[in-house]
Amino acid sequence: MYGGTAELDGKLAMVTGAAGPTGLAIARALLEHGLHVLLADINARRLDEVCEPLGAAAIPIPLDVGDPDQVAVACSGIRGDFGEVDILINNAGVLSNNKAAETTPQEWRRLMSVNLDGAFFLAREWLPGMRRRRWGRIVNICSLAMKTGGLTAGTAYTASKGGMAALTFSLARESACDGVTVNGIAPAYIRTPMVTEQLDEAARERLLQEIPVGRFCEPEEIAFLVCYLISPLAGFVTGEIVDINGGLLLD
Ligand SMILES: NC(=O)c1ccc[n+]([C@@H]2O[C@H](COP(=O)([O-])OP(=O)(O)OC[C@H]3O[C@@H](n4cnc5c(N)ncnc54)[C@H](O)[C@@H]3O)[C@@H](O)[C@H]2O)c1
Repeated sequence: MYGGTAELDGKLAMVTGAAGPTGLAIARALLEHGLHVLLADINARRLDEVCEPLGAAAIPIPLDVGDPDQVAVACSGIRGDFGEVDILINNAGVLSNNKAAETTPQEWRRLMSVNLDGAFFLAREWLPGMRRRRWGRIVNICSLAMKTGGLTAGTAYTASKGGMAALTFSLARESACDGVTVNGIAPAYIRTPMVTEQLDEAARERLLQEIPVGRFCEPEEIAFLVCYLISPLAGFVTGEIVDINGGLLLD
């Protein structure tokens, strides 16, 4: 990795939603850079399947990030077994394409809980240690939806990702003086089940006409951006939300 891989060697990273394609691509990239990686996901079965071929540096953590009690228990176990987390990638997310009138209070709460509360609960656990050690990285996977109002994404999803961006700014401001950077990534249309299953064929065809680059984003392209943001040479980048949307929105 440009900027001194050696400085990252042996550090501990946590990637949430790591049983999904984007989280897994991120975890793989971090493992390639010599990090120990905690792969957290609510889907324990899939988590075991994906961790199995990754080797001993990949540690599965079955966890519902939206449940504060589960997060507290898991983090205390991680602290005891592996120590403090240096790099946190909040990638777990759930999508709903329902607009306001079709969004029930339960759905609103579920999306907020996974997409926004989960990122907060984990940052709250790991940020103090990062600040004490005067080095840390947090990357929040947001979404283009927060800027466009959701081209296809629904109201709760869009609002939860907007909240995540504001959380990014707040954490970045409070921890910049302690060598910790907190950034976000705002992707659009990564080729994962959110696109291949939660959008119909007609919507996908329409999007491919509209995305200037003419294709969907690959999970590995998000992982590459994460590697940049966590690299030692990116220490002056904080409170930034990096767009990766194939030219859908130019700002
Ligand atoms: N796919 C896209 O087009 C797209 C676009 C913009 C942003 N994003 C964001 O990127 C991230 C990854 O998306 P993806 O497409 O790989 O999603 P995905 O649905 O394929 O994977 C998400 C993973 O999160 C896990 N998860 C869900 N609820 C959880 C919970 N409560 N606790 C822990 N894990 C939980 C799921 O089990 C799954 O493995 C998400 O935050 C998503 O909102 C995706």
